[in-house]
Amino acid sequence: MSKALQMTSKGALGCLVKDIDLAQVSDEQLQQLKAAFAEHEVLFFENQSMAPEAHLAFASRWGDININRFFTHVEGYPAIAQVVKEPQQQGNIGGYWHTDHSYDQVPALGSMLLARQVPPTGGDTLFASCTKAFASLSTGMQQMLLSLRAVHSSRHVFGEQAPYMGEMKGRLGNSDAAKQDAVHPVIITHPESGRKALYVNPGFTLHFEGWTTEESKPLLDYLYAHAVQLEHTTRFQWAPGSIAFWDNRCTWHYALNDYHGTRREMHRITIEGSPIS
Ligand code: SIN
Repeated sequence: MSKALQMTSKGALGCLVKDIDLAQVSDEQLQQLKAAFAEHEVLFFENQSMAPEAHLAFASRWGDININRFFTHVEGYPAIAQVVKEPQQQGNIGGYWHTDHSYDQVPALGSMLLARQVPPTGGDTLFASCTKAFASLSTGMQQMLLSLRAVHSSRHVFGEQAPYMGEMKGRLGNSDAAKQDAVHPVIITHPESGRKALYVNPGFTLHFEGWTTEESKPLLDYLYAHAVQLEHTTRFQWAPGSIAFWDNRCTWHYALNDYHGTRREMHRITIEGSPIS
């Protein structure tokens, strides 16, 4: 029997898992990691400068791999999205609060981001807990939100007319694939932890079902400001070989863009989820 993994909580969400080689995780350790993922919502690891094959092999132990339809992939590895910002580029990928794939009918379970090159300073990623955000709302607001559904889309971010796509030319593409919308409950129950989570996000949610965009905006803005209160968030500082593995069903993330003139390259593998409710 292998000994219990060493984990340090990172505050509102996330925990740093120490002394582990993700290329050699036993089945028993994997079970511990799965329990920690459900509990902490984001797992952080350090010193995991593994080959793309090992990154893929570890990610595959959590589910099927999603081949991202918008991101440029790492050469030779279609299942690994490249999240890069070159020194001469201004915009970064993911520099806004969002959860990946909420525009899909069956959103992704999570994303595993491995740092390959990081700037000397800056380039941290912020995470917010949507279970904490739900739990700290009044019971009146919780009850009201439980009756709502919301429409999510990729069109305004990855579609042909999206300003973001112009800025991300060469890094993101395939705008033709940004045609789908999805409707999800505003509050979902996390399939493993059983906790309720706020499931709208500033990146991809358009409006509440049956409400206009104008009618939806004040309440969405309130929820967005509520969710990112510092008490619901954590911040991760990267080094080469660091990994953040976040649960897309109950967290948001935000890649800070404060390292102009330097290069940052991350490799992201996204794992397919199951229907949410
Ligand atoms: C992303 O939104 O997937 C990118 C996050 C990051 O680069 O920190």
